[in-house]
Amino acid sequence: MSASTLLPRSVYKLSPLTPPRSTLVSRRYITRSALNQKFPSPGLPRAATSFQSPIHQFTRTIPHFPSTKIQFPTTPTPHNYTTMSTPTLPATMRAIKIPHTGGLEVLELHSDLPLPTPTSGQILIKNAFAGVNYIDTYLRTGLYPPPASGILGQEAEGTVVAVSAEGDTYGFKIGDRVAAFTSGGAYAEYVAVPAQTSFKLPEGIEAGLGAASLLQGLTALTLIREAHPVKKGETILVHAAAGGVGLWLCQLLRAVGAKVIATASTAEKLALAKENGADELVNYKTHDFVAEVARITGGAGVAAVFDGVGAATFEGSFASVARKGSMVSFGNASGPVPPFTIARLGAKNIKVLRPRLGAYVETREEFETYSAELFGFIADGKVGVKVHGRYKLEDVAKAQGELEGRGTVGKLLLVL
Ligand SMILES: NC(=O)c1ccc[n+]([C@@H]2O[C@H](COP(=O)([O-])OP(=O)(O)OC[C@H]3O[C@@H](n4cnc5c(N)ncnc54)[C@H](OP(=O)(O)O)[C@@H]3O)[C@@H](O)[C@H]2O)c1
Repeated sequence: MSASTLLPRSVYKLSPLTPPRSTLVSRRYITRSALNQKFPSPGLPRAATSFQSPIHQFTRTIPHFPSTKIQFPTTPTPHNYTTMSTPTLPATMRAIKIPHTGGLEVLELHSDLPLPTPTSGQILIKNAFAGVNYIDTYLRTGLYPPPASGILGQEAEGTVVAVSAEGDTYGFKIGDRVAAFTSGGAYAEYVAVPAQTSFKLPEGIEAGLGAASLLQGLTALTLIREAHPVKKGETILVHAAAGGVGLWLCQLLRAVGAKVIATASTAEKLALAKENGADELVNYKTHDFVAEVARITGGAGVAAVFDGVGAATFEGSFASVARKGSMVSFGNASGPVPPFTIARLGAKNIKVLRPRLGAYVETREEFETYSAELFGFIADGKVGVKVHGRYKLEDVAKAQGELEGRGTVGKLLLVL
């Protein structure tokens, strides 16, 4: 399977996704031992040498981030971790760091930043790819508070080069190829990430697909399983259907047997949504999507709306939900949704949700179960992963600019 092209339509015609685990076993999630039959967790032994890191630390406040702190080397702190032999790890690395929040111009390339030290429960990854996600733009502009290090990036793919000797590191070993979901730091050659939200990539997952799939794929999977557990035959409205999360939603919803009404801003994007499973197409730039949904559903509305566009579509999405349906608002590509009066729900007994991926995969069991399922779909050819473009680290402003400018489809990757 090529990372840059979608699979032929025929491969999608495989069996629907397995039903929610709760119908198969008495617990909400299947056990790790059950999971490991297909994609075993990394083994427990730690191979290399244990030593005390010479890295020192102190905390200083960055003037541009009022109330944020950053860790920099200074006083000795005994950090215990297992690493590759020291000469293989350089002292410094290249990374994109923001000095303060702002426009694309704040994305600065540094070539001499110290390597992060894995703290308790963390592993250090030598990055091969970093995923570019819409949330990175919110963190850059200050819509959400940026990470204390000033280094953006929540999605990494690479090789484990050090493992903390403290905390639970779930058996990760040096040399493991992993994809990781983290709170920041991935726009860099090395990133320290929680082992808890790292996943050992199964054999056969092509280079780049880890960082191309983890965050957006898990988002789509948890939205259709937890935010609104989608049932076969339901009609679902998906906005920005040719985007990163959007293409995942189209494919997963098709596999579940739902009917998808897809919106996007161009004919090309709509055609791509159709290739990925959308049944009805609406250009929401040229057409009133509320009227189109009413026409398509015979006035009934949709069982759920998955809306990552935010401010521009919220009211129309709310109007499009059927009685007892779900309004799932999961992002702000066009700006944050204004405050909402709860009493409005009663008119149709609608549920409004504002889910965040991190809160769906907070335990190791949740993260591992969903990740194994996600990469299983890819390995089995049940879903295709559309990569819009691969960008050099120094071209990150171009990548974020294209994403914000609605010029992309599918996933954007930084190649380290
Ligand atoms: N809650 C969570 O945990 C979670 C996790 C992951 C992602 N998200 C959210 O999911 C959404 C999609 O993320 P993504 O990374 O996959 O991005 P994306 O969908 O690839 O890109 C955003 C898309 O939004 C559409 N859009 C509509 N109005 C826009 C505007 N005014 N400015 C920019 N874009 C606009 C564009 O598609 P058209 O040109 O077709 O309109 C654009 O391509 C984002 O809101 C993101 O924050 C949330």
